[in-house]
Amino acid sequence: MTKSLKVGVIGCGMISDWYFKAAKRFKQLDIIACADLNQEMAEKQGKEYGIPVWQADEIYNSPEVQLIINLTPPKVHYYVMKRALESGKHAYSEKPLGVDLAQAKELLDQAKAKGLYIGCAPDTFMGGGHQTARKLIDDGWIGKVFAGTAMFMSRGPEKWKHAPAFYDKGAGPVLDIGPYFVTQLINLLGPAVAVTAVVTKGPDFREGGEETVPHIYPINVPTHQAGIIEFANGAQITLIGSYEVYKSSHPFIELYGTNGSLQMHHPNFFGGTVKVFQPGYEDWKEVPPSHIYNTDARSVGVADMITSIIDKKEARASGELAYHALEIMLSLEKSSQLQRRVVLESTCKRPEPMPLGLTDGNVELINL
Ligand SMILES: NC(=O)c1ccc[n+]([C@@H]2O[C@H](COP(=O)([O-])OP(=O)(O)OC[C@H]3O[C@@H](n4cnc5c(N)ncnc54)[C@H](O)[C@@H]3O)[C@@H](O)[C@H]2O)c1
Repeated sequence: MTKSLKVGVIGCGMISDWYFKAAKRFKQLDIIACADLNQEMAEKQGKEYGIPVWQADEIYNSPEVQLIINLTPPKVHYYVMKRALESGKHAYSEKPLGVDLAQAKELLDQAKAKGLYIGCAPDTFMGGGHQTARKLIDDGWIGKVFAGTAMFMSRGPEKWKHAPAFYDKGAGPVLDIGPYFVTQLINLLGPAVAVTAVVTKGPDFREGGEETVPHIYPINVPTHQAGIIEFANGAQITLIGSYEVYKSSHPFIELYGTNGSLQMHHPNFFGGTVKVFQPGYEDWKEVPPSHIYNTDARSVGVADMITSIIDKKEARASGELAYHALEIMLSLEKSSQLQRRVVLESTCKRPEPMPLGLTDGNVELINL
């Protein structure tokens, strides 16, 4: 029988659909309640997915709930996570872990002191495309990786209803999209040691489309960040995150090794095209996925955390990983402000690769 924990979900907005759908797929998640500050949202999602609607306080105070999934906006993450841990519950948050490093550290310390697990999205790095790329690197297909690029450049979501939030503290291209890239780079290469960057901001205000409320809104974050991340294994990765670019054809992630190159899809997606090039090839060769979870499986990270809690082992999408990714991302702006290279204070363990041969809904091979 699959081992599960009783889960309460706080925040029933856009991303909650993915978690409520995946909960049916991953038996580790027994979602017994959901809540939102906006009662209408909670009622809508509760009805759609057949989940009882509680007040947030009832979730925090319930002796039944063992783990809280936090699907609130980034600026609220710290408060919900803190409250969850104070209530004695394991806590898993949507990305990023926080918008402030000191607050995120406080959460890690609090979890450790209480013997609770803390985890964080993105869990896309556990997807089939990411794990295929990882296996190619681990198996030596491109030799030792010494450099690479990670590029996510577009105009930004100014036409969306939620657009102003994307230009507020805790968002911007690097904290919103960056977690997918930086987490996957750590999955591929291990922890980083230093960051050097220059960041800049376009106009102070942007104008949205018809559905954007408010129509004209301030830009409170850098909108173009360019930097170099040095990894402990010696690789140096050039990263550019931008909401200023009209058109770009750069590959999302490209790695250069002593025996070849590797290219992969946007790490926001679980699966996609992974290609390698070795001396002697005429062109890139597409590599079929070696692992499952090639379409959306948001929740695989929390399912893995639940298995880890029960089996007393380390979770892959851990708080330490998310904290290290957050320090890397925040150090881009810090380096630019200080006009110097920033040596990172944190590190983390490279997450364990996903096993081969999994069946859907599983994060570990089941001994039959
Ligand atoms: N929307 C996406 O495509 C997407 C994709 C990946 C990750 N995410 C991440 O998911 C998180 C949520 O994003 P979203 O797009 O679902 O946002 P959203 O604004 O659609 O939903 C957030 C919900 O949280 C509720 N909320 C805010 N504070 C609360 C509190 N203190 N207690 C209870 N409820 C509270 C809001 O009322 C809202 O309904 C963010 O961290 C975001 O980075 C979103």
